[in-house]
Amino acid sequence: MKKPLVFILNGINLNMFGRRDPAHYGTATLGDIDQRLTELAGELGLEVEFFQSNHEGDFVEKIHQIHFSEAAGVIVNAGAWTHYSYGLADALAILDVPVVEVHMSNVHAREEFRHFSVLSGVVKGSIAGFGVDSYLLALRAVAGLISKR
Ligand code: DQA
Repeated sequence: MKKPLVFILNGINLNMFGRRDPAHYGTATLGDIDQRLTELAGELGLEVEFFQSNHEGDFVEKIHQIHFSEAAGVIVNAGAWTHYSYGLADALAILDVPVVEVHMSNVHAREEFRHFSVLSGVVKGSIAGFGVDSYLLALRAVAGLISKR
């Protein structure tokens, strides 16, 4: 049987993890995070596919492609777009598979503009503040949601 496919989407500036503000984001690179997710996906019986872009239009187009794909779930860290991109929120709202929002840092303990997510209303749930573990917890959450469908 085919393993359920989960897309891991990382948005603007997230390719710079490991080189960017280690007090908030630690020292793991996006490649390190992808590797940890691939390992966990193996344990959970899931397939993972990764996408990162700094271009909002490309990111939205990827979400449209996911809509027409065999995706079973989506994990999204949209970086700063989280706080203002209604276009991205509208794109995510098109998806009919579980979507989990993640943030490495505890956005609620940071600057005020980070306290609000325009995405929260269109996702199943959000996980923030656990560093790389935010992604791993999100994958476990998506696995649980997929198994209940
Ligand atoms: C982030 C939090 C956002 O506020 C910020 O713009 C990022 C990273 C996080 O993972 O903690 O780029 O999404």
